[in-house]
Amino acid sequence: MSTVMLEIGDLHVSYGQVDAVRGVSLQLAHGQIVSVIGPNGAGKTTLLGAAMGLLPSKGTLRFDGENLEGLDVEARVERGLTLVPEKRELFGELSVLDNLMLGAYAKRAGATALRGRLDAVYARFPRLAERRAQRADTLSGGERQMLALGRALMSAPRLLMLDEPSLGLAPLIVQEILSIVRGLRADGVSILLVEQNARAALESSDHGYVLETGEIALSGESSALAKDPRVQATYLGGGTDDD
Ligand SMILES: Nc1ncnc2c1ncn2[C@@H]1O[C@H](COP(=O)(O)OP(=O)(O)O)[C@@H](O)[C@H]1O
Ligand SMILES: [Mg+2]
Repeated sequence: MSTVMLEIGDLHVSYGQVDAVRGVSLQLAHGQIVSVIGPNGAGKTTLLGAAMGLLPSKGTLRFDGENLEGLDVEARVERGLTLVPEKRELFGELSVLDNLMLGAYAKRAGATALRGRLDAVYARFPRLAERRAQRADTLSGGERQMLALGRALMSAPRLLMLDEPSLGLAPLIVQEILSIVRGLRADGVSILLVEQNARAALESSDHGYVLETGEIALSGESSALAKDPRVQATYLGGGTDDD
């Protein structure tokens, strides 16, 4: 069995009076894709924010056995944790290349290593290579998500946390992005995948958690969750593979 890479235990995150994450426990083993599904407002983004060190939290956060408490965002990036935020947060007026190089900023790698990472990103995303001199705001939605992924890869993550990568994308593009995500895993990057698109997330992950109003309502192997009547009724209800 593979060993635990990310361990979240009894995590609590609040915004003033609002308890957005209430006692969440979750584990991710090396080499896994783990999904967290749940409706808008469930606390998914908050959970990732706390894991990344963007938000204060109470509870246990361990990465490769190391307590993350007290490590700022940059230190977590140095350890191999990287977040692709829900809003992508690209610089529209900057070129594709400049956006990619900003992703390398937090992790001070040498020029040769950065060149190698850039080549690897262009090899994985030929469309970014073709558009390297173009402004980011001229890209399509799918290309922007590729750029957000590519920028994250510039920091050489070992665990990539993806906040709703399918948001706002057409079904075919969603499939393309998720196939890229599975390819990353095949190349040794573990993935924590947060999605409202439960069907796509469960199809692409090994293990899944259902987050509802800040608490884990259900968890299990993704294939089993997809067959669970409660998940089917609430998250997969009546849908088809291409809706
Ligand atoms: N900056 C904030 N200030 C106050 N409340 C917030 C803030 N961000 C999120 N919340 C609240 O926390 C809860 C969880 O939000 P969020 O983590 O964004 O959920 P999700 O990503 O699952 O849609 C929601 O009730 C939301 O309104
Ligand atoms: Mg969110």
